[in-house]
Amino acid sequence: MAFTFFFRDQQVLERVVEHVLPSLAGRIHPRIWDAGAATGQEPYTLTIMFAATMNHFAFDNLRIDATDVESTGQFAQMVEAAIYPADELSRLPEGILDRYFEPNGKTGCFRVIDSVRRRIFYQQNDLLSFQEIGHGYSLVLCKNVLLHFQPVERIEVLRMFHRALAPGGLFATEQTQEMPRELASLFQRVIPDGPLFRKVECGECGAPQPRAA
Ligand SMILES: C[S@@+](CC[C@H](N)C(=O)[O-])C[C@H]1O[C@@H](n2cnc3c(N)ncnc32)[C@H](O)[C@@H]1O
Repeated sequence: MAFTFFFRDQQVLERVVEHVLPSLAGRIHPRIWDAGAATGQEPYTLTIMFAATMNHFAFDNLRIDATDVESTGQFAQMVEAAIYPADELSRLPEGILDRYFEPNGKTGCFRVIDSVRRRIFYQQNDLLSFQEIGHGYSLVLCKNVLLHFQPVERIEVLRMFHRALAPGGLFATEQTQEMPRELASLFQRVIPDGPLFRKVECGECGAPQPRAA
């Protein structure tokens, strides 16, 4: 089972949300891609953060595509069910359990509330296929995944994220991940001390992207 937990890298995610919010406001159907989402704790954390900061109407238009390479369907089932044992939820920030989870009926389990659950669309995807799942993303989040790849694979995956992003879209990763020097012209660091990068337009990076609504 993949190692992940709710509110992992909380400070990174809070800064990501803060920086991406203005670009979401200008879009009719804003999209986010969480690549390597494992069993759902990360995309649900992110979605809860958006729910807490966006107005109700804007939040209901948000789409978060959560993907993972896991191919037995087990992760898909877990993300779609959104049921987690209480001991996994015991260290959530104050107020989150009451506001965004409901008892599931099963002893000791809670389910993410429907309004949050409905924002997440899970699909199986191997990042090493180097095929983007779509275009026009305001944010691609890929944390604790790239470190498992070879340097050349990492570069191709990052190029693919660049194609998937909307103009000016953001890419976020874990604190310890460096942007390869080869890609310095494709991504510009957004904050000096954090793993958050903005897409730089580049004429030679692939086919023109369709504009997102
Ligand atoms: C350590 S977990 C990270 C989960 C979450 N992003 C986090 O930071 O808590 C790594 C995840 O990357 C997924 N993964 C590994 N190789 C992948 C690939 N080639 N394509 C997509 N996902 C991959 C694994 O299945 C696993 O769920």
